[in-house]
Amino acid sequence: VISKLKFEVANGEIRGTGVFLKPFTVETISDEYIGWLNNKSLMRFSEQRLKEHTRESCVQYIKSFDGSPSKFWSLHRSSDGKHIGTLSAYVNQRLNTADLSIMVGDDTARGTGAASEAWGLALQYLFTVVGVRKVVAGTYDTNVPMKRIMERHGMVLEGRLRKQHLLEGQEIDGLLFGIFKSEWENQSS
Ligand SMILES: CC(C)(COP(=O)(O)OP(=O)(O)OC[C@H]1O[C@@H](n2cnc3c(N)ncnc32)[C@H](O)[C@@H]1OP(=O)(O)O)[C@@H](O)C(=O)NCCC(=O)NCCS
Repeated sequence: VISKLKFEVANGEIRGTGVFLKPFTVETISDEYIGWLNNKSLMRFSEQRLKEHTRESCVQYIKSFDGSPSKFWSLHRSSDGKHIGTLSAYVNQRLNTADLSIMVGDDTARGTGAASEAWGLALQYLFTVVGVRKVVAGTYDTNVPMKRIMERHGMVLEGRLRKQHLLEGQEIDGLLFGIFKSEWENQSS
C-alpha cells in the first residue's frame, strides 16, 4: 500500500512529486498524442485501439467533458513539464462514484512509476475534492502493470467478467476493481 505523498491543488493543477495533472485542453493535442492513441500495441488493453483517432476526434472527446462533472486530465512529468499521458474519471453524480482510467504514452515515462503516482493523485482528488464515495476501474486480466497500480493503491478486485474480451484471438477476463473513500482513508498515511 502506498503512503500518501505530496498532493497540491493549485490553478486547476494537481501536483505531486514526479508528475502533475491538469485539465486536458485543445492546446495539449499534439501529433505525438494522436500517435499514442493510434498505436495499436500501446492501446492493446483498451477499446480505444478499435477507433481511428484524429485531431478532430480528440477535440470532440475534450468537448464531451464540458459541463460534465467528469474529468479529463493530461499527465505531465514535473521535471520538464512534458506531456506523458492522460487520465479520465467518469463521475456519476447520482451514485457519487467515479470510474478512473489512465494511459502513459511517452516511452521514456513508462515503467518509471509516473502512472502509479498519477493514479494516487487522481484517487486523492476524487475522494477529497470531488468527494465521491467510491472509485472503480476496469482492466484486462493480462494488463499486469495496471493490476499492480490498482493493488498498490488498495483497490479491491470486485468482479471478473469471464472471457469478456477478445484480443488477437485470445479470450481474456475483464477485471473490475473498486475502493471506498473509507478504505482509502484507512490506508497507512
Ligand atoms: C497501464 C500503464 C498506465 C502503466 O504504466 P507504467 O508506466 O508501466 O506504470 P508504473 O511505472 O507506475 O508501474 C506500475 C506497476 O507495474 C509494474 N510493471 C510495469 N511494467 C510491467 C511489466 N511489463 N510487467 C510486470 N510489471 C510491470 C511496475 O513495477 C509497477 O509495479 P510496482 O508498483 O509494484 O513496482 C501503461 O502501461 C499504459 O499506459 N498502457 C497503455 C494503456 C492502458 O493499458 N491503460 C489501462 C487500460 S485499463
